[in-house]
Amino acid sequence: MPTGLQSTDLAAAGLKLTIEDTVATVTLVRPERRNAMTPSMWHGLAQVGAAIPEQVRVVVVRGAGPSFCAGIDLRLFTADGVPGEQHRLDPASPDFDDAIAGYQAGYMWLRDPRFVSIAAVQGHAIGGGFQLALACDLRVLADDAKLCMKEPALGLVPDLTGTKPLVDIVGLPRAIELCLTTRVVGASEAAVLRLAELVVPGPELDSAVADLVAALLATDATAARATKALLQQAQGNTLDQQVRAERQAQRQLLSGRQPG
Ligand code: ACO
Repeated sequence: MPTGLQSTDLAAAGLKLTIEDTVATVTLVRPERRNAMTPSMWHGLAQVGAAIPEQVRVVVVRGAGPSFCAGIDLRLFTADGVPGEQHRLDPASPDFDDAIAGYQAGYMWLRDPRFVSIAAVQGHAIGGGFQLALACDLRVLADDAKLCMKEPALGLVPDLTGTKPLVDIVGLPRAIELCLTTRVVGASEAAVLRLAELVVPGPELDSAVADLVAALLATDATAARATKALLQQAQGNTLDQQVRAERQAQRQLLSGRQPG
């Protein structure tokens, strides 16, 4: 366990972290509630992100049980709420923005160029759960996967960092259609929409992810990190800016290998 993290605190937040050499696996472990999410889980995810050791090159995000993640714990919208969790946010409060930024921090770290993040998705990935899969660089789906951006049906916008990757991946018209109909996308359509890099039969999900991890680890670590950082800039850059970035990245990479 990395310094600063206690496995008991993570367990209380519905999370488990294992690190084996260069691979970290973050598992949502609230299967009896289909891994429904709470503020504690989002804060726990942010703490995991802040504590990922330097040697880690791949982060796998998965959900225990039949569903990857059923999104926000709907009890948060009830009068009783979830024991120990903060109640509904007050939009008039000066803390509103910071509170949501704190939840988003649980998702933002998955873009870090130090590693490649992979969502291993079986069953439902709904709302905040779909956005968690979208926060990862790559998605491997079991053939029973069902993706749904449910927030607008609940009178909310998706605010857990998912709107940009969704538009980047499927394009604006399809993103509007998916979010405003809140329809469920099955695994085969997800592959067509490029929401899945790979779709495999359910029992093969673990081995497919393991194969992908092995292939990623076979690439030179420094080149992999520099390349992910370079690719991440491409959509926001003009061609001129991007080719300049390529030259700079190459210079930096090769300079780091100069003897002495
Ligand atoms: N919040 C709280 N509890 C949940 C949630 C959730 N999001 N999802 C499932 N659970 C609970 C159920 O209430 C049920 O509890 P119980 O055993 O005490 O009755 C248990 O998890 C199992 O759920 P089932 O519905 O029985 O499981 P099933 O596999 O049939 O269906 C599914 C799974 C499709 C995920 C269904 O539970 C569901 O629709 N959940 C709600 C999804 C949702 O609307 N999430 C909010 C998205 S918006 C956002 O994230 C901001």
